[in-house]
Order: sequence, then structure tokens, then C-alpha cells
Amino acid sequence: MLYSEKVMDHFEHPRNVGVIEDADGVGEVGNPVCGDIMKMYLKIENDIITDVKFTTFGCGSAIATSSMATELIKGKTIQEALELSNKAVVEALDGLPKRKIHCSVLAEEAIKAALVDYYKRHNLELPVEIRDFNPDADDIDESLPMED
Ligand code: FES
Repeated sequence: MLYSEKVMDHFEHPRNVGVIEDADGVGEVGNPVCGDIMKMYLKIENDIITDVKFTTFGCGSAIATSSMATELIKGKTIQEALELSNKAVVEALDGLPKRKIHCSVLAEEAIKAALVDYYKRHNLELPVEIRDFNPDADDIDESLPMED
């Protein structure tokens, strides 16, 4: 079986899909190679992630990892969300095929991008974990045949 039961469950019944209209932080990231896009919305009160939702134009693994990632940060502190790695998400899903690991990176980066947005909106100093965050800085092999 290529995908674990947990991956299939979160793909078929994704948690926390949607938009938060009055979100405190919104982050959007994309993967330049597959072209998939992920958008994450956070509601934050007293440093706690009280609500989180996502929308994606992404593959099944992107859906499953985002679903799991939102479950892992909901009700947690900002600090815990900052520390959530794509590795922890993949482990919580009982693994992903190697060539699908980048999809889990999209989920982690979307959360970080939403947190950057939250700190900037509130004119707060960015915590060290996201101070240099730049999801567009990924090395792209320009020799690949790509469309603009
Ligand atoms: Fe692009 Fe999965 S193939 S996020």
C-alpha cells in the first residue's frame, strides 16, 4: 500500500478546510515545481491558535498533510506551531512516499507564512524561527522545462 490509512483518511475527510474571514494571519505558499498552492488562515487569541483553516489547489498528499498539520496546531500555542516540522506531520500520518515529502513542506510553510503575516500585522518582532522565512527562496533548477 503506497499510502497509509491515516493519509487516506485525511485525504478523503480533510479536517479544517475553509476560509476564516476575520483571520489574524493568512499565509499563501506555492511549490514552483508542481505548481500546487496552499493557503492557511489562523485565528489567534492570547498566543493560542484558536482556529485554523486551509484551502489548497494541491495534490492528495498536500490535502492530507495540511489536514493533519491543522489538527496538530489547533488549540496550541504560537510557539508550538512555530516548532511544527513537516517531519512531525509526516510521522503523524504514518509516513509518505519519498517523492511526496515536498507536499508536506507546503503545509509547514503555509503555517509559517500565516504566522509571519500575524506578526507583521501587529507590528511585532518576528520570532527567530521565522525571521528569515522566505518560501520563495527555494532553489529552482532553471533548466527544467517550465511554463511561466
Ligand atoms: Fe505538489 Fe503534492 S505534488 S504539493
